[in-house]
Amino acid sequence: MPPDNRKDILLCKKDFSVVQLSKDINLSTFSCEYPEYTTFLTDNAPKLDEIGITTTYLVKKGEKTCAYFSILAGSVEINSKLKSLFPEKDFPPYADKAGTLHIHHLAGDKDFCCEYKHIISFCKDYLRAMIITRLMKFLNITFISLDADINTDENVEEKYKKSGFKTVGTSFELPFMIAPVFE
Ligand SMILES: CC(C)(COP(=O)(O)OP(=O)(O)OC[C@H]1O[C@@H](n2cnc3c(N)ncnc32)[C@H](O)[C@@H]1OP(=O)(O)O)[C@@H](O)C(=O)NCCC(=O)NCCS
Repeated sequence: MPPDNRKDILLCKKDFSVVQLSKDINLSTFSCEYPEYTTFLTDNAPKLDEIGITTTYLVKKGEKTCAYFSILAGSVEINSKLKSLFPEKDFPPYADKAGTLHIHHLAGDKDFCCEYKHIISFCKDYLRAMIITRLMKFLNITFISLDADINTDENVEEKYKKSGFKTVGTSFELPFMIAPVFE
């Protein structure tokens, strides 16, 4: 890989805000390297949010939409593979499933991704904080999960691995990956 001279978003988090997708936000400047991820945000996410399937958040720098992630509730099977990958988590034998917060879609704007690295870790940190400070009052969530879309970006599983996710199975024929909420 060529040297990565991009700025690290993890070192300048305060320059960015996270807001929930709403009708009054102009998405026309957002453009992802893969057009289907642009269309998902502009066409599908508003409808899926409205009918209560997903909840979509935008990462913004001022007025600019830099990235988005769309989430829903999920679960993961606690099998021998998961136990071997997360030996520090001492699951009792009768525990067969754990709750996840599932990242349904995540993507960065092309120009933003050329300027900044580590948007996956930024989103993961945001979701961990959301789970710990808000959701855990009502619901136990053990992992953040996602299906790594290797059909679109053949390197994306590696990127998620570097960002703290591990592959525990397959989902829709894609690597199903999880990262613990409590590390
Ligand atoms: C996928 C995406 C969100 C990743 O953004 P990101 O978090 O900024 O990813 P980075 O470029 O910082 O890469 C993360 C890590 O993987 C490493 N990496 C990048 N390409 C790699 C490769 N080909 N092989 C191995 N490691 C690689 C980076 O060096 C970095 O490692 P580091 O933590 O040691 O610095 C962004 O590229 C994007 O929006 N892509 C288009 C949409 C998409 O594919 N979404 C995901 C669908 S599941």
